[in-house]
Amino acid sequence: MAGSVTEMENKQVVLTEYVTGFPKESHLAVRNGGKIQLKAPQGSVLVKNLYLSCDPYMRGRMSPPKAGGDPNFASFTPGSPIQGFGVGKVVDSGVAEFKSGDFVWGVTSWEEYSIISNTKTLFKITNTEDVPLSYYTGLLGVMVVGMPGVTAYFGFHDVCAPKKGEYVFVSAASGAVGQLVGQFAKLAGCYVVGSAGSKQKVELLKSKFGFDEAFNYKEENDLDAALKRYRYFPEGIDIYFENVGGKMLDAVLSNIRVHGRIAVCGMISQYNLEHHEGVHNLAAMIYKRVRMQGFVSFDYFARYSELLDDVVPYVKEGKIAYVEDVAEGLENGPAALVGLFSGRNVGKQVVAVAHE
Ligand SMILES: NC(=O)c1ccc[n+]([C@@H]2O[C@H](COP(=O)([O-])OP(=O)(O)OC[C@H]3O[C@@H](n4cnc5c(N)ncnc54)[C@H](OP(=O)(O)O)[C@@H]3O)[C@@H](O)[C@H]2O)c1
Repeated sequence: MAGSVTEMENKQVVLTEYVTGFPKESHLAVRNGGKIQLKAPQGSVLVKNLYLSCDPYMRGRMSPPKAGGDPNFASFTPGSPIQGFGVGKVVDSGVAEFKSGDFVWGVTSWEEYSIISNTKTLFKITNTEDVPLSYYTGLLGVMVVGMPGVTAYFGFHDVCAPKKGEYVFVSAASGAVGQLVGQFAKLAGCYVVGSAGSKQKVELLKSKFGFDEAFNYKEENDLDAALKRYRYFPEGIDIYFENVGGKMLDAVLSNIRVHGRIAVCGMISQYNLEHHEGVHNLAAMIYKRVRMQGFVSFDYFARYSELLDDVVPYVKEGKIAYVEDVAEGLENGPAALVGLFSGRNVGKQVVAVAHE
């Protein structure tokens, strides 16, 4: 319990209405959710939320429910706080696994304090000294969907099966997942090129994340020609880490090498379209014997310790950079979440509800 205080006001971010097309800030509202008792019911944990993760998959949960939809991606309820991954501090615990003062990460709600009854999706953070807490929303988080570190690490190493010297292309390269894929590719001895949507992001890719080359896809009318014209891939692309879909996928298929691999991580360019664009160059897969494989981060949950063993030392030594874009306060949460779909974020988008 937090000293002698027994209840607190609880600000929340709620979905105002289901979304069709591009999400707007007005689809979300910040409201006072009333008072919350600072006491965890038996079997639950009361958490003070510190950092909330903004992830593109949350857009799907803002759509109306679909028959036969995946329960992992169930629609949010209008009028109720939205949910996602977050980092928090335990205020009071009604289960033996957690105690007051523990730092945890897992599935929580967008509000100042949450009672978490499904404690299976809550994990204790043991390493709080050398790694910033907010990294557990992104670089070091795991579980269910959307956690960028697991996605990038296993998506690149497992799905792409990289070999030293191969040519790697990453789209949405400066984002939460992309920045890590590029760095993992460099550590694996690959040549890596990234695309991003602004000059600032292109500079960041080269100066901070060590990409060999980078370009602004918004300045290119013909992506196929761009990949060729600048000779980023004089011999073609061995590995494409797909984050955006649409025209970029077609351009890559025109430039893929024999036995190329495409890890289909996400297709953010399609998420807000009522009718998804078609892909025209799929026949390249036949002649080039291409393997294209979709994957989701929770496929790799059981292997989380491999990520920690491999990546935490690099983070401590400063050999892996991780750029976050932190929106301060729940009030700025709606703009931060919606901003993912216009490229407003530079790096992993996080909302800081409180710093402790
Ligand atoms: N399979 C999985 O388990 C899994 C897990 C996590 C994420 N993902 C997917 O991975 C991708 C990246 O996610 P993230 O969390 O790392 O997000 P992020 O890259 O940090 O943020 C989204 C970025 O997407 C780019 N973007 C937005 N609209 C676009 C469009 N129409 N065309 C091209 N780019 C666009 C923007 O960057 P620019 O300025 O460069 O346009 C924006 O900053 C998403 O597709 C996401 O769904 C999949």
